[in-house]
Amino acid sequence: MSTESASAVFRDTFAAEPEGVWSAPGRVNLIGEHTDYNGGLCLPIGLPQRTFAAVRRRDDGMLRMVSAQGGDVVEVALDDVGPGRPEGWAAYVAGVPWALRRAGHEVSGLDVAVDGRVPLGAGLSSSAALECAVAAAASDLFGLGLLADAAGRTALAAACVDAENTVAQAPTGGMDQSAAMLAEPGHALLLDCRDHHTEQVPFDLAEAGLALLVVDTRAEHALVDGQYAERRDSCEQAARELGVPTLREVAVGDLDDALGRLSSDLLRRRTRHVVTEIDRVVHAREALRHDDFERLGALFLESHASMRDDFEISVDELDTVVETAVAAGALGARMTGGGFGGSAIALVRADAVDATTERVEAAFADKGFRAPQAFAVTASGAAARDH
Ligand code: GLA
Repeated sequence: MSTESASAVFRDTFAAEPEGVWSAPGRVNLIGEHTDYNGGLCLPIGLPQRTFAAVRRRDDGMLRMVSAQGGDVVEVALDDVGPGRPEGWAAYVAGVPWALRRAGHEVSGLDVAVDGRVPLGAGLSSSAALECAVAAAASDLFGLGLLADAAGRTALAAACVDAENTVAQAPTGGMDQSAAMLAEPGHALLLDCRDHHTEQVPFDLAEAGLALLVVDTRAEHALVDGQYAERRDSCEQAARELGVPTLREVAVGDLDDALGRLSSDLLRRRTRHVVTEIDRVVHAREALRHDDFERLGALFLESHASMRDDFEISVDELDTVVETAVAAGALGARMTGGGFGGSAIALVRADAVDATTERVEAAFADKGFRAPQAFAVTASGAAARDH
């Protein structure tokens, strides 16, 4: 149990008992990619894979952080945390009390031991899981009471986004932290990133004899940060040219007109992805309401083609998962997350999980790619106290 492993690392490092252990899940997004920072819609689920944080308060304003995944203890005064400080994984821990304080909450120092069981670098939001586990701990330990309801959890997610954008300096859009704070077992989370409205959409594949297969391609994603920021900038530029605050304001029925007013083919393609992708989320929610999984699968495929051709964030490994899964009988498949590597998801019949995995492994071996990691997942719960 990772609760125990986080506690054991805590005891070994800090020679004391933690006050508790909290955890938060990674996520996969079913559909709605690169829509969050455009004020759009997305539909993530929480993963069974979680990150655990064993935590104890300190009254001297120091933060001490250690990871079961290795490396030295990182020590920094809360007063010294800021943009780019500390660096590396510790930014995702230290940024959280920093952001909570900036949001007006009274917090002090912490000793933190983390055990991350969300695969790293797989595009499954291990960083948001880390932030949200620490935020859950801080909420309980400093008596903030923010885990009690959706409004409080939304406030914690916002602090985690601030930690990631400002301290870790990754310009991500907020879907991952909302998923880690608000996901419910057996449900997908419809997130409206314009007004922060959320809706729990029942998502139970087992009942329909289906499974969701996640394939971590383990493809290197060099340049990922620069590419992500470039996509975000292009979307903002397109919105400026169209005279709207975000691309969410472009209705799918007005897309052709909007495309005609943009200054370059590149901006036209980026805009077409975002506007059609938001529309696909609306249709995916409808499909789930009617248990229409054939339709959901078809939407996955349209989404993947849009990311590959218009948004240009796929790579060979991701395309290979999608093509191979479909050839093996999947109802649909798509890359998930930021892109340029990471993971793809496939909607498959429950009795085809192993055969599909084998086909994907064989296709990767044929192409000389690194061996992928595939596993079926169910929609799991949000950040919580474990111990
Ligand atoms: C990453 C970011 C999210 C979101 C996705 C793409 O996961 O962290 O905010 O933009 O990419 O949908």
